Amino acid sequence: MIESILNKASFSKEDLVLLLKAEGEDRTMLFKKAAEIRDQYIGKKVYFRGLIEFSNRCSKNCLYCGIRSGNTKTHRYMVTKDEVLECAKYAYEERYGSIVIQSGERSDKAFIVEIEELLHEIKKLSNGELGVTLSLGEQTEETYRRWFNAGGHRYLLRIEASDEELYHKIHPNDKTHDYHARLECLKTLRKIGYNVGTGVMIGLPFQTLENLADDLLFFEKLDIDMCGMGPFIEHEDTPLFQYRDQLLPKSERFDLSLKMVAILRIMMKDVNIAATTAMQTLDPAGREKAIRVGANIIMPNLTPVKYREDYLLYEDKPCIDEEAWECRSCLEARIKIAGGEIGYGEWGDSKHFQKRNS
Ligand code: 5AD
Ligand code: SF4
Ligand code: FES
Repeated sequence: MIESILNKASFSKEDLVLLLKAEGEDRTMLFKKAAEIRDQYIGKKVYFRGLIEFSNRCSKNCLYCGIRSGNTKTHRYMVTKDEVLECAKYAYEERYGSIVIQSGERSDKAFIVEIEELLHEIKKLSNGELGVTLSLGEQTEETYRRWFNAGGHRYLLRIEASDEELYHKIHPNDKTHDYHARLECLKTLRKIGYNVGTGVMIGLPFQTLENLADDLLFFEKLDIDMCGMGPFIEHEDTPLFQYRDQLLPKSERFDLSLKMVAILRIMMKDVNIAATTAMQTLDPAGREKAIRVGANIIMPNLTPVKYREDYLLYEDKPCIDEEAWECRSCLEARIKIAGGEIGYGEWGDSKHFQKRNS
């Protein structure tokens, strides 16, 4: 039965729910198909995105996130300009190809200007060669344009949950956490010319398999270029922690995440899909497994070690004490184990984006 679904040109919601439920031989067949599609359409290359967790100051209060503004236990930091440039220089010299600047959400003038200046400096120190993905939340069109003009060319803004009702269950219901505003941002980013990425959390409280099937259809409809998704992991200083007894066991949340990656690879053959850190948190070999079933992006952490324990979005986040070179060699080994090869010195924009713009 799974075989007949896998051979279809496109999947219905019902098909997707069945694929998400696949077990035993069916599950193996799903993963095999995803690996074949990956080899056929994008090959074995895996691209690095050196991750700089720029600041944990955040004006938002998402109910799942450890650095939400309401968590008074978190010590707040912002990486200095020199430190960011040091990280970027390291990434450039080690031929990572690209970096990601990620941060809690802020939209004040000082922040906007700081990012803009950083982008100019990063471009300068790398002769324009280092690719930069931004993951800095919801901003105005003007801000997105400024950052684009300064050299940001990929933007990651997860929809977190594409179902509006579920979105409202995991965010405070106020003006700053508006589902439609987030959707608008994704459209604006596309209009400006960014490679646009989004994603969801998997295994959230109140989430059903139908919701996840809809998430996949949402990615397809939006015609995204990149996707980063991973399991939801509870954090004790957040409101959603109270539902921890209702969550799927961690192994099942991991398995569902793996299936989401595999199915998305089959649906959107040439997009970039990340093997996320959250996947490794729930399974020691989580990122290798994701690469095997179709992920082609990995994010070695570059954040100066002294800040790492303050960027705890969820429990048990790995790489808290590892220096940049340790994460690099760790991931090099993992990618090798997974049968991939690293695209050193290349941006590795998604083929999907390249095709749409050629
Ligand atoms: N579990 C898993 N992922 C989380 N994120 C935030 N909190 C959690 C959590 N508890 C993810 C969100 C956000 C990204 C930066 O981290 O999807 O977009
Ligand atoms: Fe802030 Fe992002 Fe965490 Fe929400 S998920 S509280 S926007 S850092
Ligand atoms: Fe950081 Fe493995 S990726 S130690």
